[in-house]
Amino acid sequence: MKRPLIAGNWKMFKTTGEATNLVQTIKAGVYKINDCDMVICPPFTALAAVSKILTETPIELGAQNMHPETEGAFTGEISPAMLKDVGCRYVILGHSERRQYFFETDAFVNEKIKTALKYSLIPIVCIGETLEEREDKRQFEVVKNQFDHSFKDLSKEEIVKLVIAYEPVWAIGTGKTATPDQAEQMHSYIRRLLKEKYSEDAANRIAILYGGSVKPDNIASLVKKPNIDGALVGGASLKAESFVQIVSQAVAEVEAGASS
Ligand code: 13P
Repeated sequence: MKRPLIAGNWKMFKTTGEATNLVQTIKAGVYKINDCDMVICPPFTALAAVSKILTETPIELGAQNMHPETEGAFTGEISPAMLKDVGCRYVILGHSERRQYFFETDAFVNEKIKTALKYSLIPIVCIGETLEEREDKRQFEVVKNQFDHSFKDLSKEEIVKLVIAYEPVWAIGTGKTATPDQAEQMHSYIRRLLKEKYSEDAANRIAILYGGSVKPDNIASLVKKPNIDGALVGGASLKAESFVQIVSQAVAEVEAGASS
């Protein structure tokens, strides 16, 4: 039975006080759930406060970004050691908002992945096409290009430590979810790329999450698909009720699938 992974990306939302309230409610809401991996990625300023609340819970802490250098004169940036220091286990890398608004390239994302792995942080690496690219029917070519360059020179031992998130840019924050079939088609394509470059075993060990307008009412139809291992949730992770519902729906769907 697959074990879903649900990660909440809070983006640039929540002051420390708001983050503390939210994570306390989430913690209370999921305390009986054992069959799901959960990650919460608050903004940098709230990491320390959230980390304290998550101690001795199964919920892991993640950051939303990281600089590839271990330290140095990079005003405004955060190093992997700083993330480890505050209790992070995961880090989101190459989110489309970073690529789009801060001009992050695949080569830069590749450097970040390598540093994150050196620090035993689990990178959640985002890839996905824009609306224009999908309308031009170039989505597979675009994702392959991101795959080849973001994962350049990663060994099999390294790649299996990653989580990949397929986030079609046109589905982020728009209320337009990719249909489960559209998402599954891309997830199975990514799985095939992993098989071809590494091995079947490596491909099967890597969690591929879907991200883009995931809500309590669409998570089940997504995780039902064989190649969708969970979700990277934006807007719906900002309310405890919807995040907890997404987690419980994902678990219920996986359990129902396993017993049918
Ligand atoms: P939404 O769930 O708000 O569409 O955001 C998805 C996302 O970007 C998660 O990283």
